[in-house]
Amino acid sequence: MSILDVKVIGDYIRMCNDGWLQGWHERNGGNLTYRMKAEEVAECRPFFREPGPWVNMGVTGANLAGEYFLTTGSGKFFRNVILDPAHSIGIVEINDKGDSWRIVWGLEGGARPTSEFPSHFMNHSVRVAATDGACRVIYHAHPANIIAMTYTLPLTAKAFSRALWQSATECPVVFPGGVGVVEWMVPGGADIALATSEVMKQFDAAVWAHHGLFCSGPDFDITFGLMHTIEKAAEIYNLVMSSSGGRVLQTISDANLLAIAEEFGVELNKDFLD
Ligand code: 13P
Ligand code: ZN
Repeated sequence: MSILDVKVIGDYIRMCNDGWLQGWHERNGGNLTYRMKAEEVAECRPFFREPGPWVNMGVTGANLAGEYFLTTGSGKFFRNVILDPAHSIGIVEINDKGDSWRIVWGLEGGARPTSEFPSHFMNHSVRVAATDGACRVIYHAHPANIIAMTYTLPLTAKAFSRALWQSATECPVVFPGGVGVVEWMVPGGADIALATSEVMKQFDAAVWAHHGLFCSGPDFDITFGLMHTIEKAAEIYNLVMSSSGGRVLQTISDANLLAIAEEFGVELNKDFLD
């Protein structure tokens, strides 16, 4: 028995590899964190090592004190996670103030959690609060089409939400609240973490202009599915715009969007209707 036989570790590695196969993780691009359940921590604990030193994050999430997170390593390639998990991913424990982490498993050879750990951590903090504890996954990827849209659309939640909803009929069902947008910022620190977590108070997905996308959810399937759905819609949007030169003859109307929401029993964000 090894920690790799624990189901949640296998599921986490599978999601990393699925993202790689989608082409969303060039080089070390993207990162994935998962807030472990108490029983999953118990299953993994026999494989924990002597913890490393506490490292301050520069942000605080008091509601995450004492939690354990699976995280990808900074500078690690998603492509390699399946081949070498112990060097590519790890488990960190959060201190009782909710402002520092220490490594208890993996990230071998001096590796550290993703440079976006502060953003992941603050997103976990606000999504846990917004979902009454249901949110467990924060996923950051670099899908080409949603990034391309940040060059051609106004950087507003309304513009992105409408464009994506109108690009595929399932979209208003999958993300009826819409998506948020964070203007271009230097990645990897507390500033972008705080700006993103402000957006994630309202949305379960946030576009990072000219960079990528953050998605959140209760499990790997829902979170991966949200990333996949948004990126597919973005691909359709870009195909339509590039093949038509912007001359769209017809689209999904606001009345159509409302009819879908009614039929599927979801609450559409009315701020984004005209
Ligand atoms: P890391 O290698 O530190 O996870 O950074 C990748 C990335 O996507 C930065 O935004
Ligand atoms: Zn990134």
